[in-house]
Amino acid sequence: MPPVHAPPYARVILEHLHGGDEGLNQLFGRHIHWGWWADGQQADGTLTDFEAAADRMCHQLFEAAALREGMHVLDAGCGFGGTLATLDARYRDVSLTGLNIDARQLERARQQVRASPGNAVTFVEGDACAMPFPDASFDVVLAVECIFHFPDRQRFFEEARRVLRPGGRLVVSDFVPRRPLVPALAAQDVLFGAYQRRVSGYVDIRCPLPRYRALAQRTGFLSLAERDITANTLPTYGVVRRMMTPRFGAQAALSLAGLMTLELVTRLDLLRYMILSFSRR
Ligand SMILES: C[S@@+](CC[C@H](N)C(=O)[O-])C[C@H]1O[C@@H](n2cnc3c(N)ncnc32)[C@H](O)[C@@H]1O
Repeated sequence: MPPVHAPPYARVILEHLHGGDEGLNQLFGRHIHWGWWADGQQADGTLTDFEAAADRMCHQLFEAAALREGMHVLDAGCGFGGTLATLDARYRDVSLTGLNIDARQLERARQQVRASPGNAVTFVEGDACAMPFPDASFDVVLAVECIFHFPDRQRFFEEARRVLRPGGRLVVSDFVPRRPLVPALAAQDVLFGAYQRRVSGYVDIRCPLPRYRALAQRTGFLSLAERDITANTLPTYGVVRRMMTPRFGAQAALSLAGLMTLELVTRLDLLRYMILSFSRR
């Protein structure tokens, strides 16, 4: 299995946030994920617009999870806790747990996210593929734009099944390749993976839909929905490219190349941004 580390871009983001970078705070100070626009044509390219779109992405995931008051929710790979903060603001009587491999991100999450009255929020350091939680302790497990960093998708699904109660839901947002892209991604990894990992850390976006379906079946989940929201996320690329590239300093070209490749294969419809939901059998 690949080593389990926090992705290097998280360190870059944290350094800038600690330095008082207001623009980056609007981009990735709360959520570190793509935005969602009902109509991409309406996006205006501003950071305020992006912030609202990143919040709306959370609501798409909550809908897929059929979230209700009173639920126990685990956010695996929780970043700075923005998804749980959004959830806390909308639902009452919920118990929220954020799990992250990175102690520094968790420090910020603990400072930023306070539970509303009647709710509880806890942040825990650990690997999503070896979760430090008892069996059947959650109604919902979320993995928002992070499963591609986990060292082993199957191990994560097994762990999610273990910590979910029967009938509980697993909701994942991921970059899902069309089958023909998979060998090209493998080749790209052989050629440029070592360089790309300096910016993005370990990334595996080589799980097409049939593989997800087989994985769910194997690990005791029922596939509930596969929602392609690519078109709703496209305005993200311009904003992230503009904001992140200069902040990578010596690695700016690497960061730009990675983002442009991702955008290109997405616009060619070889890679889709999807929300996948599963029910624990
Ligand atoms: C793109 S960020 C998404 C953060 C958050 N889900 C959000 O939407 O704001 C990926 C996150 O996955 C976390 N991560 C990476 N590998 C992990 C692992 N093995 N276990 C837990 N978290 C991990 C990273 O530290 C980072 O916070």
